[in-house]
This record gives sequence, C-alpha cells and structure tokens, in this order.
Amino acid sequence: MISEVSGREAKLLLSSEEISNRVSQLGREITRDYKDKDLVIIGVLKGGFIFLADLIRHIKLKIEIDFIRVSSYKEATQAGDIELITNTGISLRDRHVLLVEDLIDTGVTSDFIKRTIISNNPASYKTCALIKKRKRREADITVDYFGFEIDDKFIVGYGTDLAEEGRNLPDIYVIE
Ligand code: IMP
Ligand code: MG
Repeated sequence: MISEVSGREAKLLLSSEEISNRVSQLGREITRDYKDKDLVIIGVLKGGFIFLADLIRHIKLKIEIDFIRVSSYKEATQAGDIELITNTGISLRDRHVLLVEDLIDTGVTSDFIKRTIISNNPASYKTCALIKKRKRREADITVDYFGFEIDDKFIVGYGTDLAEEGRNLPDIYVIE
C-alpha cells in the first residue's frame, strides 16, 4: 500500500487481488466467446500493457497480439484531437479483433482507435477495458467487456499513470 503518487494523496480503490480475480473471469468469458475464431488482441499503449499481459494468460486460445499507440488524453475532447503514434503491424482484414484498453473515460480515445481499426476491414471488432468510468460519455462507444465500473475519479496504478508515475503499482488508487 502507498499513500501518495507524484505528491498527491492516493487512496486504495481496487486491490491487486480483486483485480486479478476479475481479470481471470474476463479471460474465461473471452475464451468462451471466441472459441474457434481467429482472434487478434490489440493492446493500447501505454496504459493497457499490464492488463493485457495478465488477461492473455487467462485466454486459452491461439491468439495473435499487437499494439497500437495513440497520443495521450490531455485536452482531447473529440476523436479529431487524437493522433495515431504507432499503428499495428499486422493485417487485420477478416480477423476477429479485440481491443484491450486500460480505461474508458470520455470514450474519445476508444472511438478514434475503433475508426482506425475498422478501416482495415476486420471480421469483427470488440473492446475490453479494465475500467469504465460511470458518467456520460462524449463519444458514442460500446464497451463489450469491462472489469469495473467506477465513479468519475482520477485513478492511478496497474498500468495507468499520473504524469507518468505509478504505472508499476500492483493496486489501483484514487487520487484525491
Ligand atoms: P478517454 O479518451 O477520455 O476515454 O480517455 C482514455 C485515456 O485517458 C485512457 O486510456 C488513459 O490513458 C487516460 N485517462 C483517462 N482517465 C484517466 C485516469 O483516471 N487515470 C489515468 N489515466 C486516465
Ligand atoms: Mg496517461
């Protein structure tokens, strides 16, 4: 347990044990839903890398992994404010794509990535986020799988950061 990140007070929200239990459930659901399908899992950098690493070890299927990186959050309020930094390096045409993200806040990032991936004509497209914030989203997006729904608070840990600090924390904290 820690009590501050980047000089700000941090309160425990989700313990590593709670996270791990939920992540294994999600892995089982995904295994069931994608049985016999050609599944490509795309992680969103940087925030999604720890969730992805844990999740895929609970997916008992033959899968291919790739990553996408987009410019971060900051003042983005619509998809046009986001930039693609690194695209995936594999063909997605006619394949079943599952996007794995750390968290959905406004949904603007997810919406942007969806447009980018759909333009490659996959057979299907679904999203999996560890955390979904409970608020009115600006972008009209669907989150097909999610770990936890939380109030509109800023969180850090388990891949997510506060000014690049705290990604390596095993638990998730709320910044007060
Ligand atoms: P959205 O575009 O507003 O949905 O924001 C998505 C991205 O913003 C996430 O993938 C995170 O990188 C970042 N972000 C949004 N809320 C938080 C937070 O509470 N903590 C850390 N990063 C966040
Ligand atoms: Mg960030």
